[in-house]
Amino acid sequence: MDELTETLTDGVLTLTLNRPEKLNALNANLLNLLAIKLDHAEKNSAVRAVLLTGHGKAFSAGADIQHLATCNGEQGYAFACHGQRVFRQLETLSKPSLAAINGYAFGGGCELAMAATLRIASNQAKFAQPEVKLGIIPGYGGTQRLTRLIGKGRALDLCLSGRALDAGTALLWGLVNEVVAAVDLLPRAHAILQEIIQWAPLAIQSIMQSIDYGMNLSLNDALHLEAIHFAKVCATKDKMEGVQAFLEKRQPSFSGQ
Ligand code: COA
Repeated sequence: MDELTETLTDGVLTLTLNRPEKLNALNANLLNLLAIKLDHAEKNSAVRAVLLTGHGKAFSAGADIQHLATCNGEQGYAFACHGQRVFRQLETLSKPSLAAINGYAFGGGCELAMAATLRIASNQAKFAQPEVKLGIIPGYGGTQRLTRLIGKGRALDLCLSGRALDAGTALLWGLVNEVVAAVDLLPRAHAILQEIIQWAPLAIQSIMQSIDYGMNLSLNDALHLEAIHFAKVCATKDKMEGVQAFLEKRQPSFSGQ
């Protein structure tokens, strides 16, 4: 059985975690498959955006505890670095990604969702960083991305207690952008991505890079980064087209150049 399935529809590559009997727990094979598919998505111009979701009642219940059980300190370091590398690959993809969280997003599942550009959830979704209950800590970026997304106090609360949040609270805390009925999750995910990918790809890329890299810089350095990206997009054909289309009161037709 393929542990990660893919379909390409109207420029959106849907990657579905498909290990439902283990709640889509992220083993090394699944992480490697994800890295390969993301690499293809980066290189394939037919892919304009990536949608991540899970098959069954979980988005993902996290890193594979079976494997974790055998890790000593050295192996634990490699284990964390492996997941961190793949999730950073997702986060720095030049195309937008969206996690459509259909159920449990626990541990590495929550960390995977946080590495996506955007997140929406079904009203049945649940979120947690329960590693503390296993005597460990989040290792796929949870302590860092959670803090950046929802703030230090709430990140400490979740990581220290291990407790689960329902979708409504996740929305209130800014962990997800929208909550919808389960049946609407994938249609809404596609609609959000279609709305984005109608715009100029290079502008989309520059916005993502300015925000992702800029938020970890001083304000001065981040503003400089923004100005450099602004200059870059000013030199594109799509900027000419976008501005011209506005002045001519018509819809723009972007080419990605
Ligand atoms: N790694 C490996 N296997 C996992 C897993 C994980 N992170 N999460 C769930 N599974 C497996 C279970 O062992 C079980 O396998 P089995 O049927 O062979 O025994 C199967 O998935 C179903 O899980 P189960 O616990 O029976 O489902 P549930 O609906 O009762 O509970 C959760 C759901 C998410 C609350 C529970 O599975 C859980 O707490 N998982 C661990 C979450 C976690 O700690 N993640 C961080 C890991 S570092």
